[in-house]
Amino acid sequence: MLPEVKVDKKNFHKLDFSRLPTPCYVIDLHVVKQNLQLLRKIKEQTSVNILLALKAFSLKKIGSIMSNYLDGTSASGLNEAKLAKKYFHGLVSTYSPAFKEKEIEEIVKNSNHLIFNSLNQLEKFSITAKSNNIDIGVRINPIYSEVKVKKYNPAGFDSRLGIHYDQLKNIDFRNIDGIHFHSLCEQNFSTLKNTWNTIYPKIKPFFKYLKWINLGGGHHITRTDYNVNELINFLNEIKLTTKCNIYIEPGEAIFFQSGILVGEILDVLESNDCRIPNIAISDISPTCHMPDVLEAPYRPKLMDESSDGTKVLIGGPSCLAGDNIGSYNFKSLPKIGEKIVFLDQAHYTIVKTNFFNGISHPSIFFWDSKKNELELIKNYTFEDYEMRL
Ligand SMILES: Cc1ncc(COP(=O)(O)O)c(C=O)c1O
Repeated sequence: MLPEVKVDKKNFHKLDFSRLPTPCYVIDLHVVKQNLQLLRKIKEQTSVNILLALKAFSLKKIGSIMSNYLDGTSASGLNEAKLAKKYFHGLVSTYSPAFKEKEIEEIVKNSNHLIFNSLNQLEKFSITAKSNNIDIGVRINPIYSEVKVKKYNPAGFDSRLGIHYDQLKNIDFRNIDGIHFHSLCEQNFSTLKNTWNTIYPKIKPFFKYLKWINLGGGHHITRTDYNVNELINFLNEIKLTTKCNIYIEPGEAIFFQSGILVGEILDVLESNDCRIPNIAISDISPTCHMPDVLEAPYRPKLMDESSDGTKVLIGGPSCLAGDNIGSYNFKSLPKIGEKIVFLDQAHYTIVKTNFFNGISHPSIFFWDSKKNELELIKNYTFEDYEMRL
């Protein structure tokens, strides 16, 4: 389990859920803009470049909002790079554990920075990148991490992500513009500082060759307990000591606490397990609509969950036996047709949905809690499902 992060229901109590078809995601643009304002403040006080990691959230419609705050996007390959160029503004930094030969020309055309994961790939593709005048970077594995769950630790000793820093001496840095590392996951500033202190002596000899250093994502900057002032001091300090432009590429922090997933209770059953005596089947399927609930795993916060009462196991409509969201307290048994709302469901959900069992994707709404304006962004139909197959 990742450490539990305090999730606030923000302004969602003001939303009239009876107006909404279920299941649906609602993204509060007011919260997104508040998160972005904090990032802009950090930019103004440090001149750090901030890129949106599209892997966390990539709705095209958010592109125009981002352009007022951020410097660009980070992409994970051809499709995200094309999406970035078409719908988002600014610089596109593309990294993949391995690029495909037949895609590289197009990736290069849609990117400004290309970051390689190995010396093989660097050797194979750097001429294509350089002849198109884009910056080349290498990802290094800091082999320092405070991420406890192996599957979420990109900086383990045996990780496939990034070049071991002992190999840096084998690189001709005269042809390299930047270094990238990503080893954080939902972490506060101290982890970044500890990581930097670990790798500093290893990368210091190369600063003189570099234009930029990319500190990856995983910075939980918009969480109330995040040490923003220390981050600002640190970013200013490393810009001065390295004489490089500094980049960060957060995903989650931009959308933290901005989204909910609204569902409906379809049926209520008695359970054979006396510890959780009731089961509710909802139209939210964790395997289809919030896969990290099963993958991480974690228990999403249910809005207005009672502190006592009857325990209900909420499950989804798919045939997967384990398609359960979790066990929750209800003051009284939920009724068929009742709405349920899970908090903090904007990032790493919409980008991961699938049509398993033919279960439809939730509709997507933008909502501005300040103006109480609701806009339907996308509604999925049979044709969307049919088209995929
Ligand atoms: C290379 C890289 N950059 C940025 C991110 C974004 O991380 P987060 O959404 O936690 O900020 C990730 C997430 O996995 C990543 O792998």
